[in-house]
Amino acid sequence: MKTTISQVHKYVDQTVTIGAWLANKRSSGKIAFLQLRDGSGFIQGVVVKEEVGEEIFQKAKALTQETSLYVTGTVRKDERSPLGFELNVTDVEVIHESVDFPITPKEHGTEFLMDNRHLWLRSRRQHAVMKIRNEIIRATYEFFNENGFVKVDPPILTGSAPEGTTELFHTKYFDEDAYLSQSGQLYMEAAAMALGKVFSFGPTFRAEKSKTRRHLIEFWMIEPEMAFMDHEDNLVVQENYVSHLAQSVLKNCQLELKTLGRDVAKLENIKAPFPRISYDDAIKFLNEKGFDDITWGDDFGAPHETAIAESFDKPVFITHYPAKIKSFYMKPDPTNPEVVLCADLIAPEGYGEIIGGSERIDDYELLAKRCEEHGLTSDAYKWYMELRQYGSVPHSGFGLGLERTVAWLSGVEHVREAIPFPRLLNRLYP
Ligand code: 4AD
Ligand code: MG
Repeated sequence: MKTTISQVHKYVDQTVTIGAWLANKRSSGKIAFLQLRDGSGFIQGVVVKEEVGEEIFQKAKALTQETSLYVTGTVRKDERSPLGFELNVTDVEVIHESVDFPITPKEHGTEFLMDNRHLWLRSRRQHAVMKIRNEIIRATYEFFNENGFVKVDPPILTGSAPEGTTELFHTKYFDEDAYLSQSGQLYMEAAAMALGKVFSFGPTFRAEKSKTRRHLIEFWMIEPEMAFMDHEDNLVVQENYVSHLAQSVLKNCQLELKTLGRDVAKLENIKAPFPRISYDDAIKFLNEKGFDDITWGDDFGAPHETAIAESFDKPVFITHYPAKIKSFYMKPDPTNPEVVLCADLIAPEGYGEIIGGSERIDDYELLAKRCEEHGLTSDAYKWYMELRQYGSVPHSGFGLGLERTVAWLSGVEHVREAIPFPRLLNRLYP
């Protein structure tokens, strides 16, 4: 019976054949242990010389790392293995021999691993992170489908810049100027006026000269947008969504979290509601903590965010930032127009901002004024302005950065491990 490693539990004490690669191997004169992987999982194959005979045993013993194989054997229950099963090998057929695989079980430097990202992805650790990423994507669709959202795909090539013009990837669109999308938000606002509650999930691009553990040049964002929802409603959706992601990963990725050595106690607690702190209070808190490098009107740096996050064991919303350090479309707080009805959601354990969101300006005149102030006067914003001319309604939305969320829930230090092929400052290969 041909099967995969993830399905062996169905064939206990039966003979199966698995297409696999040799991840690692150890052997003595009488027995060889083959660490096999097939994409669906990892299993140990045990080859006993007395059982298989000299020829098959020597063939198994000589196998090199990453050689592709068909392995035949009997599935045995094994309490000691993480999978719960091992394969008592009866035959090995080589498909293609791998010679000098560069990533050996010893330690390698980061740059070397990044140069070999196309091969590094095969490792147990990277496999676990990609499975967690997949679970977060699955749980995202589940959450928004269950809550009445419609998936809408905004364009990648655009003429507008929702998050400021300094970090745009410029390209030519025949005779016109165009940019790679840095956020689909403006289009999602138009979609919300047509479909009520919508979400997007796609790649976004920022030509940021930042070289930190939180920054990618190309990253994936989930951007929900909701008609008739205010700032408070927006936060409730966000905390329910992020709770759903954490609980789904805990439930469906136990093996992967174990592989990564993730402290799951820290994730069990990620349940709505999340604490909220105003920007004003966050500044006071930081000043009291001895951060004298920040005053009202400044944006937070990574150390500030981490200091605030450290006093909570859940993600924390920082709300009501000064208008002048936030995007042009954010709605001013009617009780204090110096600040806007927005929030950033800061993840625990130093992973930083995973969500940015706000209520949007729904008044035509005010939006026109803001566009003017931000120099966004080109025709590229005409359609966006028009959304405020034909039945404008209160509406809100947010963007969750997929890779920062994957890094946080997986417990990996750097976002470069949270995406299959990271685009980083000075890295376009592989
Ligand atoms: O805070 P940002 O810039 O917000 C927006 O783009 C809004 N238009 C979203 C919206 O309201 N629809 O980005 C949102 C999130 C951040 O919180 C962060 O998680 C992630 O996107 N992000 C990045 N992730 C990796 N690398 C980068 N360079 C990122 N820049 C933002
Ligand atoms: Mg932000």
